[in-house]
Amino acid sequence: MPDFKDEDSHEVFHNRNEGSVPSERLAFTGRIAAGIAHEIRNPLSNVSMSVQQLKKAFTEDSPWAKHIEVIIRNTERINFLITELINSARPPKLNIQAHDIKSILENTLDSIKTKLVSQQIEVYKQYYPGFSVIHADKEQISRAFSNIMLNALESMPDGGSLTIATEIKGDFFTVKIQDTGEGIPEEDIIRIFDPFFSTKSSGVGLGLSICYGIVVSHGGIIGVENETNKGTIFTISLPII
Ligand SMILES: Nc1ncnc2c1ncn2[C@@H]1O[C@H](COP(=O)(O)OP(=O)(O)O)[C@@H](O)[C@H]1O
Ligand SMILES: [Mg+2]
Repeated sequence: MPDFKDEDSHEVFHNRNEGSVPSERLAFTGRIAAGIAHEIRNPLSNVSMSVQQLKKAFTEDSPWAKHIEVIIRNTERINFLITELINSARPPKLNIQAHDIKSILENTLDSIKTKLVSQQIEVYKQYYPGFSVIHADKEQISRAFSNIMLNALESMPDGGSLTIATEIKGDFFTVKIQDTGEGIPEEDIIRIFDPFFSTKSSGVGLGLSICYGIVVSHGGIIGVENETNKGTIFTISLPII
């Protein structure tokens, strides 16, 4: 009998391979967190409005002015984080149009070109040769791809290779994004889609939970295959129609 963690990580692979509905369990922490974030929003906006009023009572050279600025900066930061968190559980209304998946991937690669060059990352592309149109919100799907590609880059600080492959599997278009980085330790794999899970010193830990929300809201599936020290493959499957 596998232990709890094995069973969970198996579920991730199972969903990817079978093309079934993704595990509700994976999204559970995200939904709880988003619920809490909603509750934080109102009192936070009261704090924010009050401190803006308070700011008017002090001149810029007052010794209290810097404390007011600290409160403003931090309320803005909290507001940003909870907005991202809420959007990760329920992305904004989708603007679905027909798009060529290759051109979305090319644009995404283009947007991270400077980083690819400076980190000496080789890019390999294995695009499905035929018609590759998906119905998707271009902005949102690009955001999901770019979050995954940026993670891939961050896992290869000393260079490596990034492979982007697309293919058709049943009713799904699959996009595989593979790196040759450090991989994900076995015990972390079930947590990587949780909001605020990060192993990076300056990581926010929302990238993958945002990806998860975007892909699921498109009726798609996101999965991960991983080997520590050999790299990671993220697979995003999106319905063709
Ligand atoms: N390609 C990858 N290689 C290794 N670890 C990864 C990769 N992608 C994600 N991870 C792990 O998943 C965690 C969560 O990723 P993410 O949600 O994007 O947050 P962040 O990038 O801010 O840490 C990362 O901190 C890292 O531990
Ligand atoms: Mg990230």
